[in-house]
Order: sequence, then C-alpha cells, then structure tokens
Amino acid sequence: MRVAVTGANGLVGGAAVALLAGGHEVLAVGRGPCRIPPGPYTWTDADLGDGRSVEAALRDFRAEAVLHAGAMTDVDGCEREPEAAWRVNVGGAEQVARACRSLRARLVAVSTDYVFDGAAGPYGEDDLAKPRGAYARSKRCGEEAAFLIAPGCSVARTAVVYSGRPGAKSTFATQVVEKLRRGEPVKAFYDQIVSPTLAENGAAMVVELLLETDYQGVIHTAGATALDRVDFARRVAARFGLSGEIIPVRTADVKLLAPRPLKAGLRVDRAAALLREKPLGVDAALDRFHAQWLGRGQS
Ligand SMILES: NC(=O)c1ccc[n+]([C@@H]2O[C@H](COP(=O)([O-])OP(=O)(O)OC[C@H]3O[C@@H](n4cnc5c(N)ncnc54)[C@H](OP(=O)(O)O)[C@@H]3O)[C@@H](O)[C@H]2O)c1
Repeated sequence: MRVAVTGANGLVGGAAVALLAGGHEVLAVGRGPCRIPPGPYTWTDADLGDGRSVEAALRDFRAEAVLHAGAMTDVDGCEREPEAAWRVNVGGAEQVARACRSLRARLVAVSTDYVFDGAAGPYGEDDLAKPRGAYARSKRCGEEAAFLIAPGCSVARTAVVYSGRPGAKSTFATQVVEKLRRGEPVKAFYDQIVSPTLAENGAAMVVELLLETDYQGVIHTAGATALDRVDFARRVAARFGLSGEIIPVRTADVKLLAPRPLKAGLRVDRAAALLREKPLGVDAALDRFHAQWLGRGQS
C-alpha cells in the first residue's frame, strides 16, 4: 500500500515511518532535510504552512493512506505566532484532508489532549472540547477541518509524547534523565495531570488504526496512565536508577505564555478495546523507554 506520513522528522511521525518502511511503499513528508534513520522510504520536504505543497506531494505520490502527524507543536511558540500556528495546524490539516478527499485515501490526523480545558480530566472521546490558547485552538480547528473535508477520517488524540530512540527530540522525560545524571534538580508541575505517551506505542496504535480499521471519528491513542508530572518524573528517575532532587512546582507560579490544561489526560478505553496494540501503562512504557536509551549507548 502507498502510505504517506507527515511530520516525519517528529516523534510520532518518525516512529510511524520506522514501523511502515519495508512493509509498504512509504512517503515520508517532513520540513527540511531528513533527520530520521535511513530506510526503504522516499523523503520529501514540504511545508504544511504554505497552502499547497504537502497536498501536491500527497497527490503526486497517489497516497492510499495518510497519517497526518505534522504540526507546530511548540505551545508557547504558537502563542507568540498565532498566525503561523493557524497556517500550519489548520491550513496543514486542510491540505492533507483535501488530498485525501480527492484521492479517496484513508486519513488519520493526530491531535492533542490540549483541546480540553483541563477542568475535569482525564477526558473521554465524547467530552466537550474547550481549547484554551493558540496551539489548542488551532489543533481543535485542524480536527474539524479534517472531519469536514475528509468525512470518514479519524482523529487520534495523544498527549505528552516522548521517546528514547536515537535522534528523538528532547522532551520532559529525556530532560529528567539528562538533568538528574548531571546532578541537576528537576522541576515538575505537581498540578498538571497528564497521560504520557511513548511515541513508538502511540505510533503503533495510529498506524494500526490507519491501515487495519475503518474507524471514523475521534479516538484517544495515549498512554494508559494519567498521573501528575512529579509522579511521572519520579517514575522516570526510579526506572533509570537515578536519585536526585525533583522539585514540585505549581503551574501558576511559572511564567508561561500559553495556558496549560491542569486536570488533563485522556481515557483510552476505546483504543484498548479496538486495537491489538494496547495503550501502555506508564511503567511498561518506561521499561521500553529505558531499553531504547540503553540501545543508543547512553546507559
Ligand atoms: N509532542 C507532544 O507532547 C504532543 C502532545 C499531544 C499531541 N501531539 C500531537 O501529535 C502530533 C505529532 O507531534 P509530535 O509529538 O511528533 O511532535 P514533533 O516531534 O514536534 O513533530 C511535529 C513535526 O511537524 C513538523 N512541522 C512543523 N511545522 C511544519 C511545517 N510548517 N511544515 C512541515 N512540517 C512541519 C516538525 O518539523 P521539525 O522537526 O522541523 O520541527 C516536526 O517534525 C501532532 O499533531 C501534535 O500536535 C503531540
């Protein structure tokens, strides 16, 4: 099958390309040069924010299925540049959905727990989205663009993605390991409830959703454990055998540009029932994260 992945340099997109390459004809669509390990896929550089080039790339490839994992994910950056956030996260979703509609290709668009306001999480798929901030609003509108333009698509929401694979971008989880190893304290929000998601687990869920189901509508494909960030940091430290100081911080006491949902997190019962790849509990996911880390020679 001809499968395209946007955001291919990213945490989820990169993990998806690694899963798909070899078994399918894969077009990896990313911004700029390829930064993921080489493999049996074709790379193309296309901008989600320019209104047309991703759409053209998907059409030229004659995609039969598309995983849309590209997005402007810097939450505070989106707050600083809301027009860019809109161009990439709404306009990009439109480009991808238009191509899928005309090609009659299956589409799974990846989204976020930030579509919720964080008043009463963890959230199920049928809970009302109330996005706060430019990133959250642009992602919520990107979801709607996908549904309106490519009815029959699926929106897969994930949360707090991390990975230990070589070259994966720095995240809260990797920073916990790196800082504690250097003997530095780690600050963590005690009042933010999140559902940390190992990128490879999330990618396996969305790839299965894309290629092996015709599920339509929203589904939550995140880690199975909702916990606060201090608890998460402590579990990361414990898994790596690291001691050191983890300082609980209140979100309101830190100057952040964009609002953060506090009681967030995603309920994943639907994905657990539908998919063979199950949402991993936090400790099982951290076992895999630790193994990835050992694999990159930084034990
Ligand atoms: N990361 C999280 O914690 C998190 C949480 C909840 C939901 N999500 C959602 O999950 C999906 C996948 O994100 P991720 O975790 O894989 O984040 P990521 O690592 O930041 O990946 C996003 C990718 O999109 C690319 N991109 C950004 N602007 C672009 C543009 N104008 N044109 C083309 N590509 C562009 C980025 O390119 P560069 O690599 O060049 O920057 C990056 O590779 C997104 O829909 C995101 O909103 C992520």
